[in-house]
Amino acid sequence: MANERLDFVIFGATGFTGKHAVKVAAQLAKEKQIKFGVSGRRKEALITIVKEYAPDIENVRIIVADLKDEESLTKMTEQAKVLVNCCGPYRFYGEPVVKACIATRTHHVDVSGEPQYMESIALKYNKAAQDAGIYIISACGFDSIPCDLGVIFTQQKFDGEVNSIETYLSCWVTSKVSGPMVHYGTYESAIYGVAHHNELRGLRKQLYPEKLPSLQPKLNRRGLIHQSPLVKGWSMVFPGSDRSVTLRSQRFLYEKYKQRPVQIQTYVTFKSLFFALATIIFGLMFAVLSKFEFGRNLLLKYPAFFSCGTVSHEGPSAEALENSHFSITFKAVGWTEKLAEPTDKHKDPPNKELITKVSGVNPGYGATCIMLLFSAMTILKESDKMPDKGGVLSPGAAFAKTSLIEELNKNGVRFEVVSQIEK
Ligand SMILES: NC(=O)c1ccc[n+]([C@@H]2O[C@H](COP(=O)([O-])OP(=O)(O)OC[C@H]3O[C@@H](n4cnc5c(N)ncnc54)[C@H](OP(=O)(O)O)[C@@H]3O)[C@@H](O)[C@H]2O)c1
Repeated sequence: MANERLDFVIFGATGFTGKHAVKVAAQLAKEKQIKFGVSGRRKEALITIVKEYAPDIENVRIIVADLKDEESLTKMTEQAKVLVNCCGPYRFYGEPVVKACIATRTHHVDVSGEPQYMESIALKYNKAAQDAGIYIISACGFDSIPCDLGVIFTQQKFDGEVNSIETYLSCWVTSKVSGPMVHYGTYESAIYGVAHHNELRGLRKQLYPEKLPSLQPKLNRRGLIHQSPLVKGWSMVFPGSDRSVTLRSQRFLYEKYKQRPVQIQTYVTFKSLFFALATIIFGLMFAVLSKFEFGRNLLLKYPAFFSCGTVSHEGPSAEALENSHFSITFKAVGWTEKLAEPTDKHKDPPNKELITKVSGVNPGYGATCIMLLFSAMTILKESDKMPDKGGVLSPGAAFAKTSLIEELNKNGVRFEVVSQIEK
């Protein structure tokens, strides 16, 4: 029946991320009998994607929709239970899709790693999404499920009360793969994310008029560059969305369930000091150029040059993707004893440490699409374990009480306890 809602519709299926999402959806169609459709503005390209990435799945519905045509978006979203949105940069493409989802009462997941976009959507549409009884959940990819759910996993395994968590992200490739590792779409999103970084302060004032309680002992950010005994190499502050997404989840869990929020600092680690320093220099240049239109145009025009060959319009090869890996190591510090109230002060210094890890293969596109599609599955199957019957939520807030971590563990994104020390 043409009007029957499909489990998922993947919008932006012709994009680099979208086609990987189609591949994972095809797997889920075989294993879990989900029904899905693909959507985008080019019908012929959608047909080709289905032939290539879901060759043995029958009746994949093709839905033509264009971001510039509002009616086509509502016609698309009303055909899905969960809209899987792979059209980014979300700053430019995201909002009309969210609006259409609210209008047609359709859940929505995406892989945005753009904090300003995510927080402005939360500010504008949380109430409307709650009223419509639907979930709008961004950051369901490598940005930032491993970190956000990694913190939740660490809290669950701690057996006591966590005061702070430091995270160390490492990415590496096995075998001698060369060439780009990132598709242009992610690079473009990062440029505009940096360009509009200064909007965050004003947004957060509106989104969070109340401050979180002050937690002691305070977790301070480490210096520009440091070595941690936890991971081999040189670490620096990670500028991605992990910290902001994770803090949103922690705030939500505090406000909703009176759970003590965790202080968080996120770092990224490089094997050599040379590489770490080169990244700082590149990062500074990238940040300065992103701030000005002229600089942005340069960055957008010459992605290979400004990324030292790691970004291209064609994206990474299948071989490069299969040989790329990530791990995030979490160091949690806290107490064996849990106090009655989240804001109660412990009399003694922390007496427990727990180290955990989240790891996987092909973070940017393979693991990202597994996390994205399993997030969508979780909404379908376990909405009774999700809060508030709707709203604009971060993944940790939405999925903390569901089985998503277990499901990811079974599907290539590994969550594990490494060690613990009680003093
Ligand atoms: N969080 C993570 O870990 C993660 C990982 C990967 C990607 N991402 C994010 O995912 C987003 C997409 O990245 P990508 O590399 O896949 O980009 P991409 O290949 O450029 O894909 C963009 C998609 O948007 C579609 N689109 C553009 N304008 C449209 C319009 N007017 N109407 C309908 N569709 C339109 C494109 O359709 P056409 O094919 O017709 O142009 C394409 O399908 C980016 O924001 C990126 O940062 C995040």
